[in-house]
Amino acid sequence: MRRVSIALLLFLQLGITSATYTLNEVKSQISSYLDQNGTYTGGFGPRLGCQLACSFLDLALARRVSYPQSPTYEFEESRYWSQQQELTRPTCRFSPTSAEDVSLAVLTFRVTHCKFAVKSGGHAAFAGASNLDSGVTIDLIHLNQLALSVDKTQASIGAGNLWYDVYTYLQPKNVTVIGGRVSAIGVGGLTLGGGMSFFSSQHGWACDNVNTYEVVLADGSIREVSYSSRYSDLYWALRGGGNNFGIVTRFDLATYPQGDLWAGSETFLYTNETAAAINSAFYYLGINAPSDPYAQVIIAYAYAQSQDVFVIASDLQYAKPIPNPQILQNFTSIAGAISSTLRIVDLANLTIEFNNTNPGGFRQTYWTFTVQNSACLMADLVAIYLDEVASVKDIAGIVPSIVFQLITTDMTQYFSRNGGNPLGLDGQGPLNLVNIDISWSNAADDERVMAVAQNIVNRATTTARTRGLDHPYLYQNYASYQQDVFASYGKENHAKLRSISAKYDPQHVWQQLQPGYFKL
Ligand SMILES: Cc1cc2nc3c(=O)[nH]c(=O)nc-3n(C[C@H](O)[C@H](O)[C@H](O)COP(=O)(O)OP(=O)(O)OC[C@H]3O[C@@H](n4cnc5c(N)ncnc54)[C@H](O)[C@@H]3O)c2cc1C
Ligand SMILES: *[C@@H]1O[C@H](CO)[C@@H](O)[C@H](O)[C@H]1NC(C)=O
Ligand SMILES: *[C@@H]1O[C@H](CO)[C@@H](O)[C@H](O)[C@H]1NC(C)=O
Ligand SMILES: *[C@@H]1O[C@H](CO)[C@@H](O)[C@H](O)[C@H]1NC(C)=O
Ligand SMILES: *[C@@H]1O[C@H](CO)[C@@H](O)[C@H](O)[C@H]1NC(C)=O
Ligand SMILES: *[C@@H]1O[C@H](CO)[C@@H](O)[C@H](O)[C@H]1NC(C)=O
Ligand SMILES: *[C@@H]1O[C@H](CO)[C@@H](O)[C@H](O)[C@H]1NC(C)=O
Repeated sequence: MRRVSIALLLFLQLGITSATYTLNEVKSQISSYLDQNGTYTGGFGPRLGCQLACSFLDLALARRVSYPQSPTYEFEESRYWSQQQELTRPTCRFSPTSAEDVSLAVLTFRVTHCKFAVKSGGHAAFAGASNLDSGVTIDLIHLNQLALSVDKTQASIGAGNLWYDVYTYLQPKNVTVIGGRVSAIGVGGLTLGGGMSFFSSQHGWACDNVNTYEVVLADGSIREVSYSSRYSDLYWALRGGGNNFGIVTRFDLATYPQGDLWAGSETFLYTNETAAAINSAFYYLGINAPSDPYAQVIIAYAYAQSQDVFVIASDLQYAKPIPNPQILQNFTSIAGAISSTLRIVDLANLTIEFNNTNPGGFRQTYWTFTVQNSACLMADLVAIYLDEVASVKDIAGIVPSIVFQLITTDMTQYFSRNGGNPLGLDGQGPLNLVNIDISWSNAADDERVMAVAQNIVNRATTTARTRGLDHPYLYQNYASYQQDVFASYGKENHAKLRSISAKYDPQHVWQQLQPGYFKL
């Protein structure tokens, strides 16, 4: 902190400032923030603070800072999934090439009181999550290192990589890691929130497969955080604590042997009979999953506006190149699919298929809740979804869906690995993780869409509670900003997360200077 303060003062006294404010303006501000010992005490307004921070970082570290209208800034702005995030305009973007760069930036933001956001793959949906109006966005795009240990048991992955780049790097070496199912998702956000993978019934979630985090703490120090390090409490907190504990610059991930999969998507027109058969197959998979952890499914009910029909997408994945395995035959025996992409496929190409069915550039909202495994309850939730969607079918470009995934008992047995994670689900299940996902075209329709999403969640959770089939867990990676993610981890875990935060970040830098996303 002190070194940055002094460097910043020297910088100002040299008079190298950006054109939007005068040097005298800045000097008079800064002298009013020196105490009688000449120590900087901070206190810039947010706008001036970020102007200063940007100018200083630009001088201190060449070619890391970009401003609006420059090709770098506009390119990075285009790499968000949702329109809400893409339309957010920071004062400047800072693209570090090392943990040391990140450290200097964090200290600079503290000294200048400049608010910031951190971006990995930019797939968080709501505004402010990984981009910040009138603040600085730290874009991890250049933290893209990829390395495999000589014995091939660990991959060291820069926090700005997309899963596609990770998989195409590891695939020729016949190993993989536990990561995202859509090519363009970032390693950072997915892993810090949990991380469901095609291989999670075999190996747990992404957060359960991190050996070491390289992380920049609020005091600017760079730490190697693992279960066996001095920072085992921080290791626990990072396995689901999101952006509340530091900026992770590198993840060392456990690897597993992996070849091709048998996977793809079958699409059906919605009928009550097909829905009943799919919900039943889903329920029984929850029961039978431990007999064959290579199988995973994602069931999505969606509205196709151009044909004015509801469809059901049954995404099936089997982590071996074996067509139509017995464990998935309750799904594949359902008649009447209007299309199917089921085939033997490599992981990278499979994630491209899912990227194509989740296009960027639209307005987006994600919501979540968790219920017990029950086919009857699924039918009730789908009925609520159909009823609510009926009132918004006219909205331009609307694609509303309700998506069901199993949190299997295979997955949650790994939640206690290496001291456990804070998600509050150890050994539980099978559970049904529900995701309400709506995309649409125009900001003018935001209020109507958000009201419908909130209604679906309220009605669905009330129905589940009435039937005694509710569950408190909210998955951070699917949650809307109105949802209280950390409370859902349970009182004890929430309190423990807060105390670990107070230990490593007594000034609450990650909450107060980095306002976006879910806060403890
Ligand atoms: C189309 C689509 C498919 C998805 N598929 C899956 C899936 O298969 N499995 C799954 O579990 N989830 C999935 N998700 C949810 C996904 O995990 C979250 O959206 C996640 O936040 C995306 O991570 P990101 O790095 O791309 O996002 P970002 O928006 O870049 O980051 C999300 C949050 O994490 C913080 N963050 C990111 N990197 C770091 C870091 N290195 N240090 C500190 N904080 C950081 C950011 O500040 C931000 O607050 C999917 C989402 C979408 C939209
Ligand atoms: C100035 O320094 C003295 C001696 O180190 C210290 O006692 C005093 O508290 C400092 N004043 C402020 C405002 O920090
Ligand atoms: C990966 O597996 C394939 C198919 O089994 C094999 O031909 C290839 O040599 C393996 N590559 C490595 C690097 O082990
Ligand atoms: C389908 O089920 C819903 C209720 O679950 C019912 O209202 C509707 O009439 C059924 N439709 C058909 C065609 O059976
Ligand atoms: C398939 O469904 C039947 C009930 O229709 C159930 O008894 C069976 O266990 C299911 N099989 C699998 C592998 O889930
Ligand atoms: C992905 O599929 C394409 C053809 O569809 C194929 O040419 C390519 O080799 C596949 N990628 C990998 C990494 O195997
Ligand atoms: C994902 O899809 C978007 C279009 O929505 C495309 O621009 C992007 O290149 C794709 N990314 C990857 C890694 O497949």
